Amino acid sequence: MSFNLKNRSFLKLLDFSKRDLTYILDLARDLKRAKYAGTEVQKLRGKNIALIFEKASTRTRCAFEVAAYDQGANVTYLDPVGSHMGKKESVKDTARVLGRMYDAIEYRGAGQEIVQELAEYAGVPVFNGLTDEFHPTQMCADLMTMREFMPQPWHSFKYAFVGDARANMGHSLMIAGCLMGMDVRIAAPRELWPSEEMLEFARQLEKKNMGTLTLTEDPYEAVKGVQFIHTDVWVSMGESAETWKERIELLTPYQVNAKLMKASGNPRVRFMHCLPAFHNLETEVGRDIFEKFGMDALEVTEEVFESDAGIQFEQAENRVHSIKALLVATLGSQ
Ligand code: CP
Ligand code: NVA
Repeated sequence: MSFNLKNRSFLKLLDFSKRDLTYILDLARDLKRAKYAGTEVQKLRGKNIALIFEKASTRTRCAFEVAAYDQGANVTYLDPVGSHMGKKESVKDTARVLGRMYDAIEYRGAGQEIVQELAEYAGVPVFNGLTDEFHPTQMCADLMTMREFMPQPWHSFKYAFVGDARANMGHSLMIAGCLMGMDVRIAAPRELWPSEEMLEFARQLEKKNMGTLTLTEDPYEAVKGVQFIHTDVWVSMGESAETWKERIELLTPYQVNAKLMKASGNPRVRFMHCLPAFHNLETEVGRDIFEKFGMDALEVTEEVFESDAGIQFEQAENRVHSIKALLVATLGSQ
């Protein structure tokens, strides 16, 4: 392997350069093809990876597990209540214990400072599986998926994120677009715009990589001419149930529905969502919201979610291939 990402942590997107990310995405594409063709070669035999989840997960956990197993590695899953971390044992101590037992650690939890502290003391690569601030492994899958549907240079991409722009997905998509030099539009009510600090950071990247970042309160302006429309849940993990009322009031105009998709002016526009999504009444939370607020869908309508424009399940599958690329690039044998 000529390109060296060995033993690197991935705590936020910016830990990798545009070139590093392009390498991970190329490798992810190769690994996906190899898996489909039955020609995958195991590069992680004998490696042990700890998966710490202080918040729930379907995709991220399963993607790390399947990626590791496909490549011959072993994993230990630590669930939100099953370890001492943060309760009887500090993050610093846990990091030093796990770092002696494992070759790498994945962490999903609240503050970005926790995953940073883990990485500081573990002595092995640490991967951020979602914090309140960032979701970097999701960005690898999102970039991979957009490129599968549009194999043009990065600067040809135009996408919008509509919804809660000061949570992990809004931040990450804003930064990913600026880092890759894309045309990225963020549409949210001003109360839910990213912090000044986060914006300033994105602006620097925009300038450096010749991207175009637009922030607007108008979702219709944001989607004009884009190839992809992204959204995310309106209340993220860790936020209180009380938040729903305020968010529904603020974000209902930002729902991705047929009218908004049409406003792109692009008949081939695609819908993307990191998932899980509230698009019908088939979930406990969805039914509860319906009883309280009378809404049968939240950030995306059932019509858009189930339409041919929706590529959210391709995106979900690509979590495995892109996380596998991250593991192989950072931990794999030559
Ligand atoms: N997109 C995502 O991170 O999904 P999970 O919460 O299921 O891991
Ligand atoms: N913003 C969401 C993303 C879920 C993958 C959350 O943090 O709950």
